[in-house]
Formats: sequence, structure tokens, C-alpha cells
Amino acid sequence: MNKITQLFNIKYPIIQGGMIWNSGYKLASAVSNAGGLGLIGAGSMYPEVLREHIQKCKKATDKPFGVNIPMLYPNIEEIMNIVIEEGVKIVFTSAGNPKTWTSFLKEKGITVVHVVSSSVFALKAQEAGVDAIVAEGFEAGGHNGRDETTTLTLIPMVKEKIQIPIIAAGGIATGRGMLATMILGADGVQVGSRFAASIESSSHNNFKETIVKIKEGDTQLTLKELAPVRLIKNKFYNDVQDLYEKCPTKEDLVQLLGRARAKKGMFEGDLEEGELEIGQIAGLIHEILPAKQIVEEMITEFEIARQEKAKFEF
Ligand SMILES: Cc1cc2nc3c(=O)[nH]c(=O)nc-3n(C[C@H](O)[C@H](O)[C@H](O)COP(=O)(O)O)c2cc1C
Repeated sequence: MNKITQLFNIKYPIIQGGMIWNSGYKLASAVSNAGGLGLIGAGSMYPEVLREHIQKCKKATDKPFGVNIPMLYPNIEEIMNIVIEEGVKIVFTSAGNPKTWTSFLKEKGITVVHVVSSSVFALKAQEAGVDAIVAEGFEAGGHNGRDETTTLTLIPMVKEKIQIPIIAAGGIATGRGMLATMILGADGVQVGSRFAASIESSSHNNFKETIVKIKEGDTQLTLKELAPVRLIKNKFYNDVQDLYEKCPTKEDLVQLLGRARAKKGMFEGDLEEGELEIGQIAGLIHEILPAKQIVEEMITEFEIARQEKAKFEF
């Protein structure tokens, strides 16, 4: 048992990050059934769609699972009420102020975790009363902090500041990566990109095939003026870069981004015009695998690496 397996009552301290257009009930329940913690990503779901996914997840697993709620969500109150009505026990909040919803959720007996990208925000989350934080480095897929702090530097700096459990995220797809961040001070890991390329991910097969094909250097953090996001360098990304050369206003960027780009890319499989969110570690992801196999391989490699480490010599 460690702090994270105890907090969530799970077997392994591996959390599958909530991911828009990727993490519906199929992925979340598969990860939970494999001994990790699966999260339904509410960020791309209308309220009633989320309710349906929670209900289906309850049928697909008797193990703990949670819901990830980006707080920029327009129907946030409705989403929070659905989570309460459906008896969800674990909520991961992100992209917003942890003070806004933490006490509301805690009063209802929900375990609350907040995602941060700096030790300053980690402290704020701790003060807001969350049970744990996800410290997410610059390598990560999806939306990210502006400071470009890498996981390697973020985890020990957060560890120095806070006392509550830390879940490391950003660039972790293997047991060795997991062990490394735990040596730095994390109590568990949150994995996104590796699970985006799983059989159970709800994203389009074109997107999954692209994840396993791309190499080191094929992603970049961009759109910092709006909400920084790490994208695959496809046509849409190049259009953004071309626009940057013309010193665009924020409105120009909003206009280029338009609506539903992420859905177009990741869910509908438009590899040219869509937004394709993935982390740097995609360069190490070579196969689309079942979620259970991903969890098992991570744990096996973690154990091997741990034993090797015991034999390190100088
Ligand atoms: C396609 C994709 C979508 C994501 N969507 C969300 C989201 O809706 N909410 C959130 O808090 N994080 C989101 N993330 C971040 C993940 O939950 C996770 O923290 C991150 O992927 C970890 O880094 P990694 O990609 O290197 O594993 C997303 C990541 C990816 C790759």
C-alpha cells in the first residue's frame, strides 16, 4: 500500500488521465479493472452524455473510478450536480481555481484531486483542501502550463512545498518512467498519451495510428496566448505557425482555432484540419495496446527497474 493506492483503494498507483475525446467509460473501466484508476474525461461531453458514461462505467467495473472535470467547462454546475447525483466518489479538477469547487465536492464526501503545473498552484490546491495533486510537466499531452517546467524539475520542487500526496504526470508511459518520478517524490503517476493509443480509447483510429507513428520532436506546445496546448505538427499546427509570423492578435488566433478543432482531429480523425493533442512521450509509443496490457507492462517494468536500481554502483 502507498498513499495513492490507499487514497483511492486501488491496486497500482497508476491513474489514467482524463482526456477529451479519448477517455469514455470503456477506457476508464478497463484501466480500473486492470488495477489502476480510470477517469472519464468530462471535458468533451454534454452533461447527459457524461451521465450515460458514468452509468455505463458503474456497470462495466466494480472497482473505483473517477471523473475529470476541466473547470472552464460552460455547464460546470450541471456537471457537478450529475457527478453528485450519480454517486461518483472521485473527482479530478483541472484548468481553473481549486477554491471554487473543492469544498462543495468534499462536503459531499468526494475525494478531490487538482491538476497543477507549478509549485505555486500546488500550494494553492493544498490550501483549498484537495486530497492530492497531479503535478503535470511540460512534456504532457493536452493543455499545459505556460512556464514550460519539465516533470523532472517540477516533482521535486512541488515535493519541497507541499505535504499532501503527489501524482506525477507528463512524459510517463513506462514502468521506468514511473519509478523515476516516484524516486523524485511522487506517490503515483497519471498517464495520458500512452492510454490515448489504447484499444479502448474512444478516439478515431487515424489519431491512434498517428500517435504510434510520430517520433521525438513531432509535437510542440503552442497557442500560449489562448490556452497552451501540446499538438502534433500537422497542417493545422503549421497554419498556426504561419499566422504567428504575421504577429496576430488574440482574436486572430481565436478565429483560426474556430470551434470543435479537437473533436475534428481526435474524434473524427481529420489529421490535417484537426487539433491533435499528444505528449512528447508519443515518440516511445509504438503499438496500440489493450489498457490492461499497458498497466501490466508498466508494473512489470517498474519491478524490474526497481531491482536493477538496488544494484546501482559507482
Ligand atoms: C488527448 C489528450 C486529451 C487530454 N484532455 C485532458 C482533459 O480533458 N483534462 C485534463 O485535465 N487533462 C487532459 N489531458 C492531460 C492528461 O490527463 C494527462 O495529465 C497528460 O496526458 C499526462 O501526460 P502524458 O501525455 O505525457 O502522459 C489530456 C491529454 C491528452 C493526451
